[in-house]
Amino acid sequence: MYQLSFSMSEFLEHYWHKKPTVIKGGFQNFIDPISPEEIAGLSMEEEVDSRFVANLNDKWTAEHGPFSEEKFGDLPESHWQLIVQAANHWHAGCAQLTEAFNSIPNWLFDDLMICYSAIGGGVGPHIDQYDVFIIQGSGKRQWRVGAKDIGQYKETCRASALRQIESFDSIIDEILEPGDILYIPPGFPHEGTTLEPSMSYSVGYRSPKEQELISNFADFVLAHDMGDVHLHDPEFSAQDNNGKIRQRDLENLTQMLKSAFEEKHTVHDFMGCLLSQSRHQLDIVAPEPLWKAEEISQHLSSGGDVQRVSGLKALYHEQDSNVAYINGEIIKVAEEDIAFLKSLCNSVMVDQAQLLSSSAISLLTDLVNKGYWFIEE
Ligand code: SIN
Ligand code: CO
Repeated sequence: MYQLSFSMSEFLEHYWHKKPTVIKGGFQNFIDPISPEEIAGLSMEEEVDSRFVANLNDKWTAEHGPFSEEKFGDLPESHWQLIVQAANHWHAGCAQLTEAFNSIPNWLFDDLMICYSAIGGGVGPHIDQYDVFIIQGSGKRQWRVGAKDIGQYKETCRASALRQIESFDSIIDEILEPGDILYIPPGFPHEGTTLEPSMSYSVGYRSPKEQELISNFADFVLAHDMGDVHLHDPEFSAQDNNGKIRQRDLENLTQMLKSAFEEKHTVHDFMGCLLSQSRHQLDIVAPEPLWKAEEISQHLSSGGDVQRVSGLKALYHEQDSNVAYINGEIIKVAEEDIAFLKSLCNSVMVDQAQLLSSSAISLLTDLVNKGYWFIEE
């Protein structure tokens, strides 16, 4: 089990969305959850999002996976980096590493990205719009971080698929060793350079954008056939200049817009559906043959467990906790199954410790048959 050596509450208070920092020994005695061979194996898979970035003799290239076996038989000595996105979706050890960050809510979590770098490898100076904890595994990398972007940095394109900036002065310049963690809030330029062949793990969090919430809300309203009404104004009266939008009319129209956002259940469902959708592909495979409720029940009572597909999001609201949002779907339960529904969302595993009603077993069976939860056989 991976455990942080520091208090996340204190960290959040002092650094989250405020300033970058290095936490030396953020994990004690850190052991890589994955091997370089396994990373190469993941990058050969069609469903896995991977990139190979090289900077030999200052010439930058970036290629997207999947890669063939030959690629890894013929690698340069230095100046390259293999990157696998959402490794927690495909590798159990990587998924366990993310659990150390469980006190940050799952709705903000994006993915765990792994970088395997040869000496001199990196992706160059750039700016992300993510909060990221970069955990150093084996090897050593030098990290530089600059002051927050307020428009002073110049973008440059040294290779397609690589967004870089020209340069920046550092406010942090440190060498990371195994178990050290670098936290970078959105908007701070950074660059890692590999000093010894290195494995690093970026635990990324992405806060939704205002324009994204608004445009997704509009899609949700249309998809659910809501708000299909025109302005109704029996108090309407004649006006002098017909090119004028009167203040009272503007207020009525604005109120119409606001009332859509004030509909509590609509907003709950919209946020739950949006935030429970993963931005990266999931390893969802429906079982064949499908499970029967009695079989699931028997499996649990004989000490077995049922696990959630890694990276699949299951959320509920603090208010209205009889509704769960699972991978973008709305699931309602009766009062008696609220505790079960919360444990589905808060834990990645269901076992017999949770005494399940027949309706809870039936819900779990549906989730297993959708491939959202699974039974290891
Ligand atoms: C890297 O490890 O070089 C890429 C990670 C990042 O900069 O976000
Ligand atoms: Co970055």
